[in-house]
Amino acid sequence: MADSLKAVRRFLTDKGYDVFLGSSSFTRRYLTGFTGSSGCLWISRDSQALITDFRYMEQAGKQCPDWQIVQHDDLIDTLKQMAAEQNVKQIAVEGDHVSVNTFREWERVLPASLTAVKGVVEDLRKQKTDNELAAIRRAADIADQAFAAVLPSVRPGASERAIALELEFTMRRLGASAVSFAPIVGSGVNGALPHARPSEKRLQAGDFVVLDFGCVFDGYCSDMTRTLLISPATDKHHAIYDCVLRAQTAGLAAVTVGRLGREVDAAARDVIESAGYGEYFGHGLGHGVGLEIHEEPRLSKKGETPLAEGMVVTVEPGIYLPEFGGVRIEDLVVVTIDGAEVLSQTPKELIVIE
Ligand code: GLY
Ligand code: MN
Ligand code: MN
Repeated sequence: MADSLKAVRRFLTDKGYDVFLGSSSFTRRYLTGFTGSSGCLWISRDSQALITDFRYMEQAGKQCPDWQIVQHDDLIDTLKQMAAEQNVKQIAVEGDHVSVNTFREWERVLPASLTAVKGVVEDLRKQKTDNELAAIRRAADIADQAFAAVLPSVRPGASERAIALELEFTMRRLGASAVSFAPIVGSGVNGALPHARPSEKRLQAGDFVVLDFGCVFDGYCSDMTRTLLISPATDKHHAIYDCVLRAQTAGLAAVTVGRLGREVDAAARDVIESAGYGEYFGHGLGHGVGLEIHEEPRLSKKGETPLAEGMVVTVEPGIYLPEFGGVRIEDLVVVTIDGAEVLSQTPKELIVIE
């Protein structure tokens, strides 16, 4: 039996639940390998079922040989029947993934007591297996290749939207199944918005251009950011860029097994604060990446998770000056016993485009 399934069973016995009812698509994928878009997991202490509908029966049977596949016409009726047949008294549901209305309805109709629990599978997902790491490496490599391919198009006069589209198309062409989020291309004043949406604005002299993008390969995400400059470069451009790069380097150096997320955040934040730009770095240093683009652990002021081998996190400090522009540099890294293994291979020296 997979270790992850054993861990869910351990949770059931430790906490006194009869069933874990998983409804997050990421939980489903992680525990079963099923890639269909609909289904629930019913994990009891001695059995495991994937409940899905007619559309996915054949696929589920092939992808999940160790799971009982239950077809439902009406999910509630099926859950009711399973709870009664198995004499289930206590069900743990994923509180972060069930709507208030669904939870209330399940409470009303199921002959068992429901408890909303948190992080049961998300905690397991923090440390990646070799297979997961292989997929993330491919996703990071595709992003690197896309950056190199799109770089010649980052020219004065090109629109943000055109560059974003080219990034997306290139990653798909290189084998990605999807983008991990809509690419961010923020030039000039738009770059001061950390999550700028690409607009029709055209790149012009003196613009920083923030490119933040990633893709999905075999279900797993990548995430990287590079910031370029359309010439001419001024002392202010260099000061800001160098400060972010020094902070990013300090953040990477702080990625160590056992260190808390907030300590890694502080290592980078101290550099930016010492340079007087602290108020312009208003987000956390980084986040876990895996099946989801943003997952645990968080590298932020509130990050209390100690880093452990096999975690995958971003290190992405930034400085955002309203009415001027922004700089962010983001690498995707694996936590190893030797520190950060940086997956993003694209160089970080400031590229000034003539
Ligand atoms: N695209 C958002 C991020 O880098 O986290
Ligand atoms: Mn990013
Ligand atoms: Mn990120």
